[in-house]
Amino acid sequence: MISKFAQQVQPFIVMDIMEMAQEMERQGREIIHLEVGEPDFDPPPAVCRAMEGALTCGRTHYTHSLGIWELRCEVARYYGDHYGVELDPGRVVITTGTSAAFLLIFSTWLEAGGRILLSDPGYPCYKSFAALIGAEVRAIPVGSETDFAITPELLEGVVEDGREVVLISSPSNPTGAITGRRTYEWIAQRGIRCISDEIYHDLVYTDVPQFTGLQVSQQMVVINGFSKRWAMTGLRLGWMVVPEPLIRPINKIAQNLYICPPTPCQYAGLAALREGETALLRMREEYDRRRRTLLAGLEDLGFLVHSEPQGAFYIFADISALAADSYDFALAMLKEAGVAVTPGKDFGSNQTSRFVRFAYTNSLQHIEAAIERLRSWLGR
Ligand SMILES: Cc1ncc(COP(=O)(O)O)c(C=O)c1O
Repeated sequence: MISKFAQQVQPFIVMDIMEMAQEMERQGREIIHLEVGEPDFDPPPAVCRAMEGALTCGRTHYTHSLGIWELRCEVARYYGDHYGVELDPGRVVITTGTSAAFLLIFSTWLEAGGRILLSDPGYPCYKSFAALIGAEVRAIPVGSETDFAITPELLEGVVEDGREVVLISSPSNPTGAITGRRTYEWIAQRGIRCISDEIYHDLVYTDVPQFTGLQVSQQMVVINGFSKRWAMTGLRLGWMVVPEPLIRPINKIAQNLYICPPTPCQYAGLAALREGETALLRMREEYDRRRRTLLAGLEDLGFLVHSEPQGAFYIFADISALAADSYDFALAMLKEAGVAVTPGKDFGSNQTSRFVRFAYTNSLQHIEAAIERLRSWLGR
């Protein structure tokens, strides 16, 4: 017998596309990958050294479920240095990727029948975590009118009794949109519980000021991690900052669900926070070059980009001037042009059949080659 959850959970379409592309590569086709939201860079050298050092020094045993104390202190220091927020390291929870942080906070704050508000389009896995808990998802449709960001006006239409949890991802996957401080303040003033996914912080390309939810309210749960900004996806390391009363409940759940985050990776995370700044700046510069090249190329080819993405490494492009359905369009693009992108459908149901997501997590040379392939495929 298979559980209802296992039967109903949706595939992560981007992974389906990637697996299809890999199968084509096995058959000899050369594919340009712009589908997966995974940095193509290696982690900073200090991270690799710390990882090796941890493995050879016997740092291979269980740690505290909430993570090693040095790393929790280093994360707390990061908030002081970057945002001027003074933070008790005891409120920092180290997690197995931010994915585990979502699992922990969803199972702490939500129960069957509880309600979580998520933007549509948005990162697809949030709703699967909610489904696992039995929580109800209420979509907040966001579009070009608000530059794909959640606003207080949009929240007014969906908040019912103030007992819901709002999850904001800023910069957003798949749109690169940044949510304004006004939205965070609106939520905080009403005492509504809020999770702020800040995994793409520091990957911002415009001069829009960056702030953390913690600057607005210490009651917010802030989630962040190492995967994107330090290209450490496979090391599975993230963190979460929680209000004091949540520490012990989360501690107990972490102990039971996965005991502790991977030990050598925690030492690698320490090195990223202490020595990763230069590598981060270099990667960010390169992402920005790619972003500008891809934006110009796509617009020239007839894709519509309603709002310039300000952060993360995605462009959510409207294909309605080129085709009727983005799923068929993305499949044809893969099979006929050898360029892999993610159909909008992966990110929700709010007009998503009009969009595809390009991830500029591939070299400038490959991005330029992809634009030329698309030019001849589209006959432009
Ligand atoms: C918005 C967002 N949050 C969280 C994650 C999960 O990342 P990880 O579990 O590697 O920290 C992703 C991954 O793509 C993401 O796009």
